[in-house]
Amino acid sequence: MTEQKRVKLAMRNISIEFPGVKALSGVDFELESGRIHALIGANGAGKSTLMKILSGAYAHYTGRIMLDQQEVIIRSPRDAKALGIDIVYQEVDTALVSYLDVAENIMLDVLVNRMKGKLFVNWADIHAAARQVLDRLGIKLDTRTRVQNLTLAQKQMVLIARAIAEERRFLILDEPTAPLSQRETEELFRIVRDLADNQNVGIIFISHRLPELFAICEEITIMRDGEVVSRSSMAQMTTKQVVELMLGRKLEENYRKTAVPIGDKLLDVVNLSEKNGAVRNINLYVRTGEIIGVAGLVGAGKTELCKTIFGALQAQSGELRLRNQRMQIHSPHAAVKSGLALVPEERRKEGVFVEEPVFSNLTAANLGKFCAPLGFLRPWAERTAAKQMIADLGIKTPHEGQKVAFLSGGNQQKVAVGKWLMAEADVYLFDEPTKGVDVGAKRDIFELMGRLAELGKGCIYTSSELSELLAITDRIYVMYDGMIVQELLTSATTEEEILYYSTGGT
Ligand SMILES: Nc1ncnc2c1ncn2[C@@H]1O[C@H](COP(=O)(O)OP(=O)(O)OP(=O)(O)O)[C@@H](O)[C@H]1O
Ligand SMILES: [Mg+2]
Repeated sequence: MTEQKRVKLAMRNISIEFPGVKALSGVDFELESGRIHALIGANGAGKSTLMKILSGAYAHYTGRIMLDQQEVIIRSPRDAKALGIDIVYQEVDTALVSYLDVAENIMLDVLVNRMKGKLFVNWADIHAAARQVLDRLGIKLDTRTRVQNLTLAQKQMVLIARAIAEERRFLILDEPTAPLSQRETEELFRIVRDLADNQNVGIIFISHRLPELFAICEEITIMRDGEVVSRSSMAQMTTKQVVELMLGRKLEENYRKTAVPIGDKLLDVVNLSEKNGAVRNINLYVRTGEIIGVAGLVGAGKTELCKTIFGALQAQSGELRLRNQRMQIHSPHAAVKSGLALVPEERRKEGVFVEEPVFSNLTAANLGKFCAPLGFLRPWAERTAAKQMIADLGIKTPHEGQKVAFLSGGNQQKVAVGKWLMAEADVYLFDEPTKGVDVGAKRDIFELMGRLAELGKGCIYTSSELSELLAITDRIYVMYDGMIVQELLTSATTEEEILYYSTGGT
């Protein structure tokens, strides 16, 4: 590949406000084409907002954007795209048209822009062009598959393909790896490296997984509370420094669950199988004060396990017992009444009402507690309790009445977690609760789980982050292909051992 000219992009003195929130103040950000640049900051720091400005989603900011010292105008997605800037948003699902096929989704912009005035679309051309983009990225996908039938990882690939279907100089990836497994992440890295090295694309990479940033990025910009606090080459940084800069405080390195007396069996799951076989012959138990982990790769059935226990997926056979009493669980409603709570993985879709305020989301799972006689809600009590949870989890919101839709991605996650923490259940199921939340918030969630254990509750915690499982659980069940293949005592196991069983070792 011949040495290509590097194009320099600079955002200068960028500020933006929303009602009641100053999201960015005086931000400077710089990037060259052909480089991979990490953008990091705590939940609500302003990363997505800054990148939305760069990709033309907001028109009402102040400040200037320069390309090679020339001021450019970006006030709409069209402006940004015309300059070769595109973004793959944090929320993958909303950006795709699910009933169209892969080719149509990849070529969407091209179809919309180029086909104006033409009467016929040459579909063979569209598929051939989409095929070319996929080949360029080394992605094996049938262009005729409908997007609704793709996995989350594949959808992400389609979005990246769309973003580079036309010549791009800059590509923004907002938390692209949050839903991906290790293997899929490596695949994405290969693509990102190729775009930077061979196609001179500048990449902005947002992620809360620090090791990833160190693995793939050359430069890093750190944001805190709507401002840039540091900018340097990646090689000059340590994980510890990055964390301190983004949080503005030190974070003690390793969180460990405090020793809590473990009591009797609280929840006993016996031979549970899901109707369509998504999980089979599940046997597990949780005791009072205990946090059990469920390990397994993406697709091993961790989410399905939680949903089947919670009655969100129908059980084919098997039994659930709470304190030795058989439970009849055929719906989430029945599960909640029996004393179970589930923090679902797809929190934006299943866990929160984005059009409702933060406080009513937080109290939604426990409305009984906030009702006066005759069933009138006591809004004051509701708001007070909500405020406490906002403080406990460090949810960044101007006030408890803010609509959830206006919170940053990670803070929406925290609301979904907080809602179930307020539910006062006996057994809590947490399905990947730390996905998409920053390292500080992660710690808050762990501490709250620890507190639940101290209160004599039982927790089931699924994660694909092995170090987290090792830090906070007492026992670990490993899943593979819809079944539990191994039970391990946390104090006597290692990441290697868990990985061995997660990948089908026997
Ligand atoms: N449309 C909006 N209306 C009101 N407030 C908003 C809006 N968009 C963003 N904000 C606020 O701006 C701040 C920055 O949000 P942003 O989404 O940029 O954070 P982020 O750094 O991407 O966080 P995360 O890691 O959680 O994704 C937050 O406090 C958020 O609540
Ligand atoms: Mg964001």
